[in-house]
Amino acid sequence: MTADALIQISHLEKQYETAAGPVPVLHDISLNIASGEFVAIMGPSGSGKSTFMNILGCLDVPTSGQYILQGSDVGMLDGDALAKLRNQVIGFVFQGFNLLPRANLETNVALPLLYARVDKAERLQRARHYLNEMGLGKYCKSLPSNISGGQQQRVAIARALAGKPSLILADEPTGNLDTQTSREIMDIFTRLNTEEGITIVLVTHEPDIAHYAKRLVRFVDGRIVHDGGVEAAGEEMAHQGATC
Ligand SMILES: Nc1ncnc2c1ncn2[C@@H]1O[C@H](COP(=O)(O)OP(=O)(O)OP(=O)(O)O)[C@@H](O)[C@H]1O
Ligand SMILES: [Mg+2]
Repeated sequence: MTADALIQISHLEKQYETAAGPVPVLHDISLNIASGEFVAIMGPSGSGKSTFMNILGCLDVPTSGQYILQGSDVGMLDGDALAKLRNQVIGFVFQGFNLLPRANLETNVALPLLYARVDKAERLQRARHYLNEMGLGKYCKSLPSNISGGQQQRVAIARALAGKPSLILADEPTGNLDTQTSREIMDIFTRLNTEEGITIVLVTHEPDIAHYAKRLVRFVDGRIVHDGGVEAAGEEMAHQGATC
């Protein structure tokens, strides 16, 4: 293992068990991501991107293969150890923001810290700090429904940052946003990567968004078909055909 390897995946397979039988989704995925990388994941709808992200985020387990996250073999950890590792290492950002509608922004950002057993004063202090950092300090007591989509995504980023993650996993974080707002969100990810050294793995269907990353991984039918420069991001439509 190299000193700065954050993610090491070898020969990973994933199949879903369904009433109709097993559905194979990921095939022989091997991939290393070093600390400080900014990786875009592209690929047609149904190619396994979210399945892969869920495994990276320790929200789901592979059927076989090995996943080592920050030196820990994820497959060897019990539920508590896995939750602890997830809380310590990973921040999640989703397409749909996933904010609690009836909780104010401060509570939304502070809530995951409760599960990470951070004490109350520290939870609120961090929530306000990261909301401020996202330019939302004056909305601490507002409900998610009273701010824009771009602002809601900034709350979700503040929530991810409050856990002081070394890795941010973002599954189509700009999928619900207009072009200008998407750029603002991507500028935030870029800053977090270059200035704070946070490793970012981000799924997108949009070549313009993938260009913010430094490395592109493309999935087709559950296999990696490209792992290299982001200049290949524009080939996405050719790969996708009519599927998207
Ligand atoms: N819980 C599940 N049970 C059974 N099959 C599933 C489940 N979740 C996903 N799948 C199947 O796995 C395949 C990959 O799905 P996944 O959501 O990972 O694709 P994706 O690349 O993220 O697609 P999109 O771009 O539309 O988000 C699809 O064929 C999907 O139907
Ligand atoms: Mg998906």
